[in-house]
Amino acid sequence: MSWLTRLTTLVNQRLGIRLSLEGREDTFRQAVNVRAAALGLTTPEEYVARVSRTGGSEEEFQSLVLLVTNGHTSFFRDLEQLMMWRQVLTQDAPTRRLQVWCAGCSTGEEAYTIAMLCKELGLAVEVLGTDINKASLTIAQHAHYDPWTTRRIPEEYARFLVSAGEQLRVADSVRASVRFQQHNLLHNPPRPAPGQKWDVIFCRNVFIYFPLEEVGHVARWFASALAPDGHLLIGASERLPDLKRWVIQSKGSRHTYQLAAMNDEESHQTEWSLASQLETPRSSPADAPPLSSVAPFL
Ligand SMILES: C[S@@+](CC[C@H](N)C(=O)[O-])C[C@H]1O[C@@H](n2cnc3c(N)ncnc32)[C@H](O)[C@@H]1O
Repeated sequence: MSWLTRLTTLVNQRLGIRLSLEGREDTFRQAVNVRAAALGLTTPEEYVARVSRTGGSEEEFQSLVLLVTNGHTSFFRDLEQLMMWRQVLTQDAPTRRLQVWCAGCSTGEEAYTIAMLCKELGLAVEVLGTDINKASLTIAQHAHYDPWTTRRIPEEYARFLVSAGEQLRVADSVRASVRFQQHNLLHNPPRPAPGQKWDVIFCRNVFIYFPLEEVGHVARWFASALAPDGHLLIGASERLPDLKRWVIQSKGSRHTYQLAAMNDEESHQTEWSLASQLETPRSSPADAPPLSSVAPFL
């Protein structure tokens, strides 16, 4: 088996991502050489052997993440879908603090957008932003952004950004509602607090890089962590495979998903299948400092 095939398989196993190398194989080979050199290795074969090691370091794992993930994002991305969700919030205003998980949050713009939307409605909210990429999470925590990424912010939300030299900083009132944590979507989902479930899960523009089988795997985790009346928002061009588990609310081409009511036997099957996934966990990264960010390949 070639090192390229071994690496593609590894990326799918560790991150869920299906690498599409069509027309980009040369660029990818070059990127692997750069990552290998950063780890002091001389050949791609050595690199693949190193990142394949079980119990390898977080530095090696993050070198793989930087190679294959795309962190493209911006504030108020897909305004149409966000306004659909805003309408849900205004029609059915929560009476307690809303718990939102923003999965695959990249550099934080989406998580802060969610907090801004809630603040503008006068709603109390706590947002957890998670991503596999440690370098992205460092940027998210810093909360300073170039004006370009804020270009889609509607005027009424501009007050949530304050000037910081040539950059814009997220206002403290918004930052206070948002925290970040590293998490791999293939692993057991985080919870707002032990035994609690999320009112809303955002996972937008992440599944486009996953084969349908992995989307189904992650969606089952989401189903286990979402409150019975909660909402799941995925990207406008993305779809869930196991539709009998979900009820779709649509407005034009935008959707939110809610859990379908299940009978006892169906919910028992769900618990059983999640339990068997837990018994065979995917690889789990160890702790070590990340590499500095480089342009992602995808
Ligand atoms: C294109 S960005 C989407 C950012 C944001 N959700 C948005 O819609 O603007 C995709 C993000 O998914 C993250 N990602 C990819 N695979 C992941 C995994 N297995 N676990 C957690 N995050 C992952 C990447 O690191 C990247 O930051």
